[in-house]
Amino acid sequence: MPESSCSPCCQPASIGKKIIMALTGLVLAGFVLGHMSGNLLMFKGPQAINAYAEWLHSHPGALWIARFILILSVIGHIWTGILLTLENRAARAGGPAIDATRRASISSRTMPYSGIVILAFLGFHLLHYTFRKVALGGKDFGEDVYAMVVFGFSSPAVSVFYIVSMLLLCLHLSHGVSSVFQTLGLRNERWRGRVDLIATAYGWIIALGFISIPLAVLLGCIK
Ligand code: HEM
Repeated sequence: MPESSCSPCCQPASIGKKIIMALTGLVLAGFVLGHMSGNLLMFKGPQAINAYAEWLHSHPGALWIARFILILSVIGHIWTGILLTLENRAARAGGPAIDATRRASISSRTMPYSGIVILAFLGFHLLHYTFRKVALGGKDFGEDVYAMVVFGFSSPAVSVFYIVSMLLLCLHLSHGVSSVFQTLGLRNERWRGRVDLIATAYGWIIALGFISIPLAVLLGCIK
């Protein structure tokens, strides 16, 4: 049956917000892939990861451009996320009840909550490894990123916090990546299954790549 009125999510203002959400999400999803790949150099030993960190810091211009794009993306992503969540809530409160078959998946319903935990994680993570102000026992690791990361993850509480946050990142990415395809009009009936599979695989690859590092430190494989 045709709907009597257009829902808020198909109005031009909402479509604009969804496009901003998708584009900023793509930047952030690309960043985590690059960051995770770089971090896996921990498995190659101190020289590899320390040389990589040194190389990054030896290009301050490019590093600051990347940081600027990242900060803008985080702000844009959070802002449009809040607006879209409020719009969806208002639409649900005012509209007819949604039948069980159209109810959203766990990952889509928990997007605002997984997003908040990821943001809290990011705050802790920056204080931990970028500003080096917490959970490093007041030690000065200088240029030795390898020793800093090993020391940081030798605390089971810190490692567990990272691991749980990465599992929520997996949930957030799985739904987020499939939403990007949806916004771009590429998640049609024919492609829906494949798109969701790609999005879930992407979430798990990122999460497991990151998780492997604190896990390897806890198990004594990296020391
Ligand atoms: C096992 C997981 C992770 C490890 C071992 C790790 C490691 C690091 C290290 C060592 C730095 C400092 C780099 C330096 O200054 O030389 C850093 C910075 C950073 N990390 Fe992570 N990271 C992890 C997960 C994540 C995740 C999941 C995110 C995003 C959700 C993230 C976002 C960032 C950001 C934004 C920076 C600041 C980059 C900059 O200097 O501008 N990290 N990370």
